[in-house]
Amino acid sequence: METLRFGIIGMGWMGQLHAEVLHQLRSTRLAAIAEIDDARRQAMSARFGVQAYADYREMLADPEIDAVSICVRDLDHLAPVLAAAEAGKQIFLEKPIAATVEDSEAIVSAASRAGVKLMVGHLLRFDPKYRQMRDAVASGQLGDVIHLYARRNSPRTEGPARYRGELPLALHVTVHDLDIILWMLRPHKPVSVYAESVEKLLAPLGTEDSVFALIRFDTGAVAAVESSWVLPAGTPTKLDYQMEVVGTEGASYLSGGYSGLALVSGTGIEFPDNFHQPAVGNVRMGDLRAELEAFASAVLSGEEVPVDPRDSVDAVRLALAIIQSARSGQRVSLL
Ligand SMILES: NC(=O)c1ccc[n+]([C@@H]2O[C@H](COP(=O)([O-])OP(=O)(O)OC[C@H]3O[C@@H](n4cnc5c(N)ncnc54)[C@H](O)[C@@H]3O)[C@@H](O)[C@H]2O)c1
Repeated sequence: METLRFGIIGMGWMGQLHAEVLHQLRSTRLAAIAEIDDARRQAMSARFGVQAYADYREMLADPEIDAVSICVRDLDHLAPVLAAAEAGKQIFLEKPIAATVEDSEAIVSAASRAGVKLMVGHLLRFDPKYRQMRDAVASGQLGDVIHLYARRNSPRTEGPARYRGELPLALHVTVHDLDIILWMLRPHKPVSVYAESVEKLLAPLGTEDSVFALIRFDTGAVAAVESSWVLPAGTPTKLDYQMEVVGTEGASYLSGGYSGLALVSGTGIEFPDNFHQPAVGNVRMGDLRAELEAFASAVLSGEEVPVDPRDSVDAVRLALAIIQSARSGQRVSLL
C-alpha cells in the first residue's frame, strides 16, 4: 500500500483542516467524510469532491477506507473509536483521547485488541521548538530539571465561542501542555497536583476562565501550568503560549503566539498562525500536517506511531486530577 485512504468523522473546525491536509499529502488520500449536520455534510462533500455519509458506521463498512481521522468533540470520542477499531480501520483521533480515564483506557484496549494503530493528535510534539526543548532535556544538557512552566492562553472569541461551555478548560486546552511536560520528564512520574481555577466571565456557561496548576514530580521537580481562554477579544494573537525548563546545568525558553510575523492595518495589529496550521498559498502547513504525515508514514511502513496512546491516557489522568483539585480545593495525590 502506497497511499492511505482516509475517511474523516466530524467535519467541523478540525475536521475541515484535517481534510485539507489529507487531500494534499502525497501519502494520503481523502476518500470520504461522515458528518451529521446536513448542510455541512453537503457543503464539504462538494468542496472536497468525496462521498459523504450521515452515519459514520456506513462509511466504516467501506473496504476502500483504510484509516479514519476522528474529529468529533471531546466528549464523543469513545463510540466512533470503538466502531472504527471493530471495522479494522487505522485510527487517528483528535486530542484529548477521551473525557474520562475509563473511556481512554477502553479506547487503547479496543485498538490493541483489533490490531490497528491508534495515535492521538498531540500536535505540539511536532512543533520543532517543543521537540528541540525536549531533546535538550532528554540529552541531559540542562542537568536535572528543577522546574518547568507552561502557558497556553487564548481570546474568549475562540474556544468559549466554539464550545459554549461544553468542556472543562483543563481537559480541552491544558492537556496539550500536560502531554508535553509528561513527555519531557518521562520516565519520571507526577506524584501530586494542586490547582486553582477562576469562574467569572464563563461561569454562566459552567466552565472556567483560567486554570493554574502546580504539579510535583517524583524527582522533586515542579511544573507550573497556566491556561486561560478569556483574553480580551482584541488580543492580537489567537494563542499566547510559552514554556520554560530550568535545570541544574542550564535552562531553555520557548515562546510563541507573537509569532515573528505582524500584519498591521489602520485599526490594529495581528499575529497570524504560522505554527499549527497556517495556510501557505494553497497548502496547509504546520504541526497538524506533520502529525498526520507521521501517522500515515507509521501505518504505511508498519512502524510504531510516534505518540504512544498510553501517553495520551496519562495526560487525561493528569488533566482530570487538576479539575478535581480545583473543584475540591485539595491537593490530589497521584500515587
Ligand atoms: N489539536 C488541536 O489543536 C485542536 C484544536 C481544536 C480542536 N481539537 C479537537 O478536535 C476535536 C473536534 O473539535 P472541533 O473544534 O472541530 O469541533 P466542532 O464542533 O467544530 O466539530 C465537530 C463536528 O463533528 C460533527 N459530529 C458530531 N457528531 C457526529 C457524528 N456522530 N458523526 C459525524 N459527525 C459528527 C459535528 O456536527 C461537527 O461538525 C475535539 O476533540 C477537539 O478537542 C484539537
